[in-house]
Amino acid sequence: MNDWSSINTYAKKWIREAGALIRESFSTELMIQSKSTPNDLVTNMDQETEKYFINKITSTFPEHRILGEEGFGDQVTSLEGVVWIIDPIDGTMNFVHQQRNFAISIGIFEDGIGQIGLIYDVVSDELYHAVKGQGAYFNEKRLPELETVEIEKAIVGINTTWVTENKRIDHSILTPLVKKVRGTRSYGSAAIELAYVAAGRLDMYITMRLSPWDFAAGLILIEEVGGKVTTIEGKPLNLVEQNSVFACNASLHDHVIENYIKQEDLE
Ligand code: IPD
Ligand code: CA
Ligand code: CA
Repeated sequence: MNDWSSINTYAKKWIREAGALIRESFSTELMIQSKSTPNDLVTNMDQETEKYFINKITSTFPEHRILGEEGFGDQVTSLEGVVWIIDPIDGTMNFVHQQRNFAISIGIFEDGIGQIGLIYDVVSDELYHAVKGQGAYFNEKRLPELETVEIEKAIVGINTTWVTENKRIDHSILTPLVKKVRGTRSYGSAAIELAYVAAGRLDMYITMRLSPWDFAAGLILIEEVGGKVTTIEGKPLNLVEQNSVFACNASLHDHVIENYIKQEDLE
């Protein structure tokens, strides 16, 4: 039996310590490189932060596996046992350009079931955290269950990429939804946007492509407050592959999929 309370205590301690190291790095020179495209940035701090977690986890929980964005963990293709899914800096572009609006994201799963979700907004020193079945918290404050929201009053997190010409979706599909809701926001960190859905600051977050480390923690947090996180087709997320992600207040989720995201248009 895993002691989730103890694992949670370690994970919360490590995420705050790693955040402090990132804040300290602001006074040193960053090494910035590009990965898949010129705008897909990675810094020495992304890599050092991932290694920081790997050292801590492997020395304390040697049987746990780690799926990390920067590739220093294990080759994880399925989720048996305990797996930590880690994005050491989510929102690297914000980290490089703005020194704010980025987060460390950690989801811990056992046999594919989310047990612990942590999203740490490093500069604001705000930790969103949840243990399965025990509710979600913003620092020490318990987050309430999400209340029913009318679509006309909803605030939607969405990147303008998906409503301009792009490779993944006909950009006209989401226009009626964007017109219907009260407003849209784009923060440049999927983890923060998912934490905001859990906190009721956004009523939905829609994106056409995220990796497991971008959404693993957010999925656990949102489910703890009664929200729904699926693909844009309404299917369960695959935790070891890229997915479209539709995270939503449960009162709007099915309504939006049925009325605004026409499945035949997605094909
Ligand atoms: C990115 C951010 C961004 C999202 C991208 C992600 P990274 O993560 O979450 O908001 O739109 O799809 O790749 O590269 O900064 O960890
Ligand atoms: Ca990310
Ligand atoms: Ca990242």
